[in-house]
Amino acid sequence: MKKYPRTEKYDNEWISENWMGPNPLWLLEELCEHIDLKPGMKVLDMGCGKGITSIFLAKEFGVTVFANDLWISATENLQRFENAGVAELVFPIHAEAHALPYAEGFFDAAISIDSYQYYGADETYFPCIYSKLVKNDGQFGIVVPGLKREFEKGYPDTLKEHWEGDMFSFHSKNWWKHLWEKTGIVDITVCYDMEEPKDIWYPWAKWAKDNLGFNDMEFLNSDTNNDISLIVMSAIKKATPPAV
Ligand SMILES: C[S@@+](CC[C@H](N)C(=O)[O-])C[C@H]1O[C@@H](n2cnc3c(N)ncnc32)[C@H](O)[C@@H]1O
Repeated sequence: MKKYPRTEKYDNEWISENWMGPNPLWLLEELCEHIDLKPGMKVLDMGCGKGITSIFLAKEFGVTVFANDLWISATENLQRFENAGVAELVFPIHAEAHALPYAEGFFDAAISIDSYQYYGADETYFPCIYSKLVKNDGQFGIVVPGLKREFEKGYPDTLKEHWEGDMFSFHSKNWWKHLWEKTGIVDITVCYDMEEPKDIWYPWAKWAKDNLGFNDMEFLNSDTNNDISLIVMSAIKKATPPAV
């Protein structure tokens, strides 16, 4: 599997105490290959969960991070940011994706790791809400679980048994690319399937089975056609985007 040298600096036990899906630092490190982050930039970490991606962004790139999540409280995340010594750079925010408290054009960049599929598959979300948060010429990046291609019935036969909840927003890279591109608001810079997605997913799946009783292992093992993907997409907002 591909190496993620920045992530190797972080304690594995700390990562697995705080991850909420396939190693978020691997996914973020891959995404950061396509986003230009500089100290002092303001970055939205949307759906940050327990905030380890926000800590990583502050430590690795010296950016100021607004660590936004719904399921995890801001108070809990603040404690983690203090423990990690980044509370001056990372601000925990508890807010739902459709009721965000930020000014339009506030962020230099907005990233989202294993979260955007929960709300962003709605066609109006990007043009009417999310894209407005970032300034013109600013950057976007997401990594989402998805599929290698679209299926007529929305899901592959091999995975039917496990298909539930947010999996209905699992889509192909071309589907995601089209979703943003057709708005005319951004230029897509990359959109691709990560290599060996199941190898990336397995450590979390095993941990989640042992600790939470989740069935990610069965889900991955049932994917005999290798349809499951982890999709990386980045984009730059146009200098003069259309008014929406
Ligand atoms: C699978 S977890 C991933 C968390 C973290 N990024 C990680 O990889 O460990 C998905 C995250 O998306 C957030 N989320 C889901 N729906 C949301 C919504 N409607 N508004 C804001 N956040 C949401 C949840 O709070 C949750 O922490």
